[in-house]
Amino acid sequence: MKKILITGAAGFIGSHVAEVIFQKFKNDKLVLYDKITYAANIKYLKNIINSNRVYFVKDDLLNYKILEKNLKNVDIAINVAAESHVDNSFGNSLLFTKTNTLGTHSFLEACRKQKVKKIIHVSTDEVYGENLKSKPFKEDQMLNPTNPYSASKAAADMIVNSYNHSYKLNVITVRANNIYGARQYPEKLISKTIFNFLKKKKMTIHGRGNSARYFLSVNDFCSGLIKIIDKGKPNTIYNIAANKSFYIMDVVRIISLHLKVNLKKNIIFVKDRPFNDKIYKINCNRLKKLGWKEKDKLKLKIPEICEWYKKNIKLF
Ligand SMILES: NC(=O)c1ccc[n+]([C@@H]2O[C@H](COP(=O)([O-])OP(=O)(O)OC[C@H]3O[C@@H](n4cnc5c(N)ncnc54)[C@H](O)[C@@H]3O)[C@@H](O)[C@H]2O)c1
Repeated sequence: MKKILITGAAGFIGSHVAEVIFQKFKNDKLVLYDKITYAANIKYLKNIINSNRVYFVKDDLLNYKILEKNLKNVDIAINVAAESHVDNSFGNSLLFTKTNTLGTHSFLEACRKQKVKKIIHVSTDEVYGENLKSKPFKEDQMLNPTNPYSASKAAADMIVNSYNHSYKLNVITVRANNIYGARQYPEKLISKTIFNFLKKKKMTIHGRGNSARYFLSVNDFCSGLIKIIDKGKPNTIYNIAANKSFYIMDVVRIISLHLKVNLKKNIIFVKDRPFNDKIYKINCNRLKKLGWKEKDKLKLKIPEICEWYKKNIKLF
């Protein structure tokens, strides 16, 4: 029987990862480790938390001793926990460095001490910075983060690199595009637009809404992660990318059409971020070679996600 630890398991992506891992590793034990910040909700784990295979720990990555104790005899450790919202990072950047950089360091050190065999660290495509060229960035691209969130994640990736070199820790790093789906705290584009329109509030758009982003469904992210757990090479970085990019305004328009909201009357243009990357473009051929393929299409997933927010609006 294996033991698998997932940090940030009560958050948006972590809770989906936890469910998928629970289904895949049917006989194994799961340790779900989460501090429970504003973005988390223990209810996201309701389908699995009462199983005798699941053990939930409410604690901080920075509480090193507790983390190390929980990593004892763990075979696979997946670090999903983070402060994840770029806008918050402009006002409260120290928290981002503490959680994302020092927190990841604490996770790596605890994994090293406990001799965890397989370690996956969840990073982001934002570490590469803006990409205005036609060629998408590969995994060996130099890092060029442009906001405190992406800088704290890039710093964590550097520590991963050093642990792989110095201690042969063999950590695998995963860098994905923007991820969308049910349970995302309504602060990021898709979740916030749906939430605001359902609450009859106006949606604010940075600048003119003409930045573009690639959006990956949380299901496609999880299937990529599973491929990486099964077939990924140790000490390797894997990008996970969607095929199609959308302008911010186009995403808001798609949601307004589905929810039958008058677009012009329900958006407000606000001053742009201090620096807003126009687009992130990454190449994920390395992951495709392991047999992964994107399945979901944003337009077709929007109705299902809107339904989830309608049913669960009281959670926020
Ligand atoms: N959401 C995206 O679009 C996206 C895209 C690419 C990569 N990522 C990465 O995926 C990961 C998860 O993102 P998310 O969107 O689910 O974030 P989220 O904010 O929804 O969830 C983060 C989780 O981490 C927990 N957490 C925060 N600080 C902690 C700490 N110090 N100790 C223990 N737990 C802590 C929170 O309680 C929460 O459950 C992050 O590493 C993020 O950088 C996210």
